[in-house]
Amino acid sequence: MNIVLGVGGGIAAYKSALLLRLFTEAGHQVTVIPTEASVKFVGVATWEALSGRPATNSVFDAVESVNHVRIGHEADLIVVAPATADVLAKAAAGLANDLLTTTLLMARGPVLFAPAMHTEMWRHAATAANVATLRSRGVHVLEPATGRLTGPDSGPGRLPEPAEIFAAAMALVEGGRPSAADDAGSPAPVPSPGTDRSAGTAPSHAAAGAPAAGAAPADGSSRLLAGKRVVITAGGTREPLDPVRFLGNKSSGKQGVALAESALAAGAEVMLIHGHMDVAPPPDAKLHSVDTALELRAATLSAAAGADVVIMAAAVADFRPATISAGKIKKRDDVADPVIKLVRNPDILAEVVAHRAAQNLSQLIVGFAAETGDEEHDARSYAEAKLARKGCDLLVVNEVGPGETGQERVFGRDGNQVEILARDGAGPVQAAGSKRQVADAVVRVIAERLGTT
Ligand code: C5P
Repeated sequence: MNIVLGVGGGIAAYKSALLLRLFTEAGHQVTVIPTEASVKFVGVATWEALSGRPATNSVFDAVESVNHVRIGHEADLIVVAPATADVLAKAAAGLANDLLTTTLLMARGPVLFAPAMHTEMWRHAATAANVATLRSRGVHVLEPATGRLTGPDSGPGRLPEPAEIFAAAMALVEGGRPSAADDAGSPAPVPSPGTDRSAGTAPSHAAAGAPAAGAAPADGSSRLLAGKRVVITAGGTREPLDPVRFLGNKSSGKQGVALAESALAAGAEVMLIHGHMDVAPPPDAKLHSVDTALELRAATLSAAAGADVVIMAAAVADFRPATISAGKIKKRDDVADPVIKLVRNPDILAEVVAHRAAQNLSQLIVGFAAETGDEEHDARSYAEAKLARKGCDLLVVNEVGPGETGQERVFGRDGNQVEILARDGAGPVQAAGSKRQVADAVVRVIAERLGTT
């Protein structure tokens, strides 16, 4: 694969030398484009020696090969690390006054920015608007890591570790590849890993405090998922409209956090990728916080590559605003009220399923579905159709909306009532009680599938 590695002018540029090594050792050809400021931190000789190629940011070097057009066209992937506030601003504005910016404008493949800067610069409204603009164009911008910065201060703004950038970059290329789902409208059938449950249609019950017969409780002593790597998405995404407004949803993150707690108690190593939540994440989980569906997608595809189990409990926005206003949308009497155009977000769950098939991974994938019934079909029929469409192994279904008392049944509440449907027709398993009890029931079904009970 041809990769372009843009290097911005920050102290973290030295970490990009390690990133470059990861790319070349994985067999990729890398063209490094260091900005003028960056070579004050790491010299051209380092980039040329490590990549085995010329490294320049000038459009006037090797003019005969029309580098400012060719490099971007030939790139399968462009990664900018560290992406400084300056590089992000130039890319957002579409400037084209050096080789890196022209290459970014010529890009045909995915583009990934790994920001690094001081917290104040990262949080500045100008940078936030630039990042939002880039994301609205489908460019991937990682969240910076939180920790020690150049000076004695610390906060969000550290360059993510080279291995994390590498994984996100690889996931982007794999995730961006047309999948069976894109070609045929439905995901390719994938054999379910783990042991088969006997196919039966009678529901089994795992109601709160009363585990299904033969199932061990998912408490610390049972260690049902000992040594398993479990990725869980939780909370709601927020899709920005302008620097102060977003389209969000009612997800509290409670069910996802309960799943993380239950999986941790069962001995799993848990990565919790979460959007907005009303509750605190468990301290023992590895955390990755995101805002938008596109960020959730990059983080999930990257983490899923090494996971035994992926549980998608996040409420992902199906649509995002087609454009993000750089300034606050103003209410004006002399102009018509704004109309918000939406574009579709990728279906991350279907992409994780396609990624598993493409990589031939042995992985259990669990989706969640909040369903409502209508005059034509009940919530269960809609859920069964969804399970077939998405291609995951298990679908945890709850009926949302007002219950008999007229109150919302699921969102933001402490209890839940679900049916766990299996793609191979086993079950379904029913579970009810607190969100933690429901999570324990889900963990038990997962453990049965993995053959670890
Ligand atoms: O299609 P629907 O939103 O009902 O599907 C719900 C399931 O799909 C959940 O597991 C959710 O996390 C996942 N999802 C997704 N990407 C989307 C929308 C939903 O992964 N764009």
